[in-house]
Amino acid sequence: MEPLSDKAQITLKKIEGLKNLISIPKIIFEVSQAIKAEPGNVKKLARMIEKDQGLTTKVLAVANSPLYGLQKKVSSLEFALMLMGTEETLRIVTAISLSESLKIKSTKNFEYMEYWKHSMLVGMAARDMSIRLGFSDLFGEAFLAGMLHDVSIQVFAQYLPKEFEEIIAASKNNKKFFDCEKEILGVSHDYIGKLLVQKWKLPEVISETIEFHHIPSQAPNGKELSALVHLADSMTQEFLIGNCFWDKTLSFDGNVVEILNFKSAEEMVHFVSEYQEIFKDTAESIVF
Ligand SMILES: [Fe+2]
Ligand SMILES: [Fe+2]
Repeated sequence: MEPLSDKAQITLKKIEGLKNLISIPKIIFEVSQAIKAEPGNVKKLARMIEKDQGLTTKVLAVANSPLYGLQKKVSSLEFALMLMGTEETLRIVTAISLSESLKIKSTKNFEYMEYWKHSMLVGMAARDMSIRLGFSDLFGEAFLAGMLHDVSIQVFAQYLPKEFEEIIAASKNNKKFFDCEKEILGVSHDYIGKLLVQKWKLPEVISETIEFHHIPSQAPNGKELSALVHLADSMTQEFLIGNCFWDKTLSFDGNVVEILNFKSAEEMVHFVSEYQEIFKDTAESIVF
């Protein structure tokens, strides 16, 4: 990687100075300790998560999303956890609470609900596609990386609002959002996302996926995972469902066809089109 520009170093200093940014939510430790101590005690786990109403609502929203694909509609957290299993519960709690730890109120330039729908759709679609495309060993990471792929946009909107506004203005003439971020901040959200995820001590494969979610073919190790997130991300634009403005100028990395073992681009387009209905239903099901 090229050395960081002066501008990038200033941005990184500003971000690193934000203390609450890298604190890992307590609930992640609590849930993982409880699973280790008593792996089968779903009741105890449910009581622990239920202390946080916002988290409970979101875990249930994931469980009940058509795209997540639990066979039954669940209203009790305990039942949802039983169906999902403890490992998956920990992943969902991790993704939600890390994203929530940066939660900001909606501003004129950032609509929290839009961001949330986008993250959930990308996480769930990447997970679902990993299973359907024969990469089921990646489904857990696909969900986590998909949920967190744009997490640093919240940091820009909340802590660098002036620069964020400048980026939005600069990207108005169909200029790539990603390039405008680099022009104004010296770095783009994929890079900052990677740093955050490293500070949160998530596995390297997640930070690499976030770094390369715009150009999966350049990912040094986890091309398949980056390609799954990239494809899910581009589906929100293709369908105009759960789409966010910063992804509008995203260019599609055509190497995804080969990386995900599609026989042809046409086959991939057909595969993608099968998701449109379920995206719509899932987006409608996400209400808090
Ligand atoms: Fe992105
Ligand atoms: Fe995105």
